[in-house]
Amino acid sequence: MTANSEHSVHIADRPLRRNPAESFTLPARYYTDSAVHRAERTAIFERSWSYVGHVSQVATTGDYLTATVYDQEIFVTRDGDNVINAFYNVCKHRGHELVQGSGRVKALKCPYHAWVYGLDGVLKHSRNTSELPGFDPCDFALSRVQIESLCGFLFVNLDPEASSLASQTPGLEDELRHYCPEIDRIEFARRDSFDVAANWKTMVDNFLECYHCAPAHRDFVDLVDMPSYRSVVHGIYSSHVSDGLPTEGNSAYELTKGDVDFSYAGWFLWPNLTIWIYPGDAHVSVLQMLPTEAERCIEYQDWFCPSGTPTTQLKAAMDYQRDVLQPEDVGLCESVQRGLRSNGYNQGRFVIDDRRSELSEHGVHHFQLMVADALGVASS
Ligand code: FES
Ligand SMILES: [Fe+2]
Repeated sequence: MTANSEHSVHIADRPLRRNPAESFTLPARYYTDSAVHRAERTAIFERSWSYVGHVSQVATTGDYLTATVYDQEIFVTRDGDNVINAFYNVCKHRGHELVQGSGRVKALKCPYHAWVYGLDGVLKHSRNTSELPGFDPCDFALSRVQIESLCGFLFVNLDPEASSLASQTPGLEDELRHYCPEIDRIEFARRDSFDVAANWKTMVDNFLECYHCAPAHRDFVDLVDMPSYRSVVHGIYSSHVSDGLPTEGNSAYELTKGDVDFSYAGWFLWPNLTIWIYPGDAHVSVLQMLPTEAERCIEYQDWFCPSGTPTTQLKAAMDYQRDVLQPEDVGLCESVQRGLRSNGYNQGRFVIDDRRSELSEHGVHHFQLMVADALGVASS
């Protein structure tokens, strides 16, 4: 065996420890292996709360929206009693999908053989079944999934036994309300989509630290007061906030309004949602990393603001995110993903400091530990 092959063929795993300062990172195969990708379906996505949309998108009886949780198609609709329901998007006859995209309907009519369901999921009409022996429409109501609102953002959980999102995220609602006092007035404004050649966790890792901000995001660090940027981990979420004032005349986007007293507020919510508030006019955006393959994900960034119509200033912030910051992050993460396939890499170290400064990567460690725990990977 040559010295070269000794180093390139196999590298043993080092421990992912509970103490971030002593821990190695999650081994590379967790980002590349199809078996891990498949295991994440039941270990993570079928038991966690997943963002699917916002109440403003189902504001009126009959409004519906569709969403994907891992590989499960879901739709959300508001019924005649003003209740928002979520169902698997599948007809109980022979499995055709019921609805596509978003829209407004009076009832849910399957395109295949025209079975009709009420907005509450009850089967109302099924052609030519009146003489069918033992056929009971009650056996064919749509399958529900749990749905819950957090400040108007809608989340579903495929596990009927899962505890409520509110009970799993104490403190998060208060933080969101603090940084967006208008949060009850915001409505859907725009969705930006990105098809990324990287594992969904590569994208989450990247959000969770600002160690890379100075080298990689020239305009972001001009906008945001970096010395006050802090990441704080709590249960299944983490906060990433810069409480210093933003820079007017910065290179990211024009910022002249003086009504904000922070320069950036972001959150990560397990497993795959990030929440963003930029300085300037009132808004919130959410950026979700949806796994599609072991080494591919789709990202959706949904923007919300009062009346759903962005101001000129907010539109500049939205365009900066879509056209500058997000492409910068996608480039970084696609390079990391190629690196994770390299025989020359298996694990790194989290760079941690006692002050938990803006450079510290403890937020990444917090997430990777949750992944390891969900997958049942031993850590000490
Ligand atoms: S599959 Fe829907 S009516 Fe047949
Ligand atoms: Fe970044």
